[in-house]
Amino acid sequence: MNVEELKNSFEKAGQGHVFKYFGELSDAEKSALLSQLEQVDLDELARLDKELVFAENKGGAVDFSKLEPAPYMPLPADKTADAEWQKAKEIGEKAIRDGRLAAFVVAGGQGTRLGFNAPKGLYKVTPVKHKSLFQVFAEKILSASRKYGVRIPWLVMTSHINDAPTRAFFEENGFFGLPKDDVIFFKQGLMPAVDCNGKILLESKSKIAMTPDGHGGCLRGMCRSGAIAELEKRGVDCISYFQVDNPLVNIIDPYFLGFHIMGGSEMSSKMIPKAYELEKVGHFCTLDGKTCVVEYSDLPAEYQKQRDENGKLRFVAGSVAIHILDRNFVEKLGGANTDTKLPFHRADKKIPCLDENGNQTKPEKPNGIKFEMFVFDALPMAKSPVIIEGFRGDEFSPVKNAEGLDSPATCKNHQKQQAARWLAKVGKKLDTDSENVPVFDIEVSPLFASNEEDFVANWNELAAKPEIGNNFYL
Ligand code: UTP
Repeated sequence: MNVEELKNSFEKAGQGHVFKYFGELSDAEKSALLSQLEQVDLDELARLDKELVFAENKGGAVDFSKLEPAPYMPLPADKTADAEWQKAKEIGEKAIRDGRLAAFVVAGGQGTRLGFNAPKGLYKVTPVKHKSLFQVFAEKILSASRKYGVRIPWLVMTSHINDAPTRAFFEENGFFGLPKDDVIFFKQGLMPAVDCNGKILLESKSKIAMTPDGHGGCLRGMCRSGAIAELEKRGVDCISYFQVDNPLVNIIDPYFLGFHIMGGSEMSSKMIPKAYELEKVGHFCTLDGKTCVVEYSDLPAEYQKQRDENGKLRFVAGSVAIHILDRNFVEKLGGANTDTKLPFHRADKKIPCLDENGNQTKPEKPNGIKFEMFVFDALPMAKSPVIIEGFRGDEFSPVKNAEGLDSPATCKNHQKQQAARWLAKVGKKLDTDSENVPVFDIEVSPLFASNEEDFVANWNELAAKPEIGNNFYL
């Protein structure tokens, strides 16, 4: 498209203001702006403005009276003694050994709540060795790779903001022992940000404001970047999806994979029972026969609190963003020629931009709208979705906030409690404080074990059992 054509199309779409300073720009700036503008899908933007910026009911309404709790496979008291779970484990382990599983972390978020001035994966989380989130994940993948004697590719989704420092961190750390070829980075897509009148915001005179397209952007990101093609080449058809902020995640879980395969599922999920009625997690539900996740912010409190005849929370299944995605399903939703796309949601954010006089501003309160996709919106489109229950203490403790709930402090305690629980299984009982947190700092490396069963087995193999004291590290 030439400049005039591009100008016309933006003017026709009511977005001609992006050319306001064009005459003042150098040739290099002009071509940078033009190539940015060429990537904007004006029809899609007009639709989003209509549906999410101007519409009365932004984002569509759910008929809550039709909402039912989604069924799930409950966690037995002892997985190792449960025939169904053992069958799943066997099938899952075979699939891992056959090289059918890849790991996938979405790490393109901005982590504004944590207030850490670097990609979140670099954040140091473990109690004794202060390992970064990326190191913890890498070691979990490496230990599974050794255990099953197979290469496990790891997809890392970044954004335009954190891609370079993320890659540099892996390089500086020798990919934490993983083969470099097995770590596949790709950048998620971008969407233009708009003001409350639906007009594209200018970040500078030669740049429009673009923001990452949400974790749901991973589906098209995986396809566009060629990551999916690479997985196909390697014979991988199952993708273990997790978030960068959760060091407890059990990335390579044969039980979960087994249930996913046995169920013929295109997208499976782990649920954790909500800790309390109004816990801020998504809720697994069914609506018109389809599985879906309804965010806590969208589900009226009366539903979040509903109890069944036994006094148990009705909508108990909390979503903790742990899924297995079928590769073909990702291609179906994220490929170029797809009709089934994830919906966008609006998020009101503080977006640095130019004011009406062309001066750069850093807003104090939300001034713009960002469009994001959520990965769980793929669930209603998935064939035979499977949900299994996970144990919170071994699955979920996110680092979201600098302090308080879901913070580095709570996460550190949960890691210590996990290690103490595993040690108790082998007869080592530790002293704890009033909150049931071990008084010592202790840490178990994923290279020793990343789940309780492996911990017990590997501990029993140790010829000399180590002494446990402060800063114990195994
Ligand atoms: P969050 O919803 O916690 O968002 O992301 P965030 O951007 O990391 O943090 P805040 O809200 O600014 O504090 C959940 C997961 O989804 C990823 C994040 O990296 C995290 O793993 N994510 C989020 C992306 O990969 N891309 C996005 O555009 C948004």
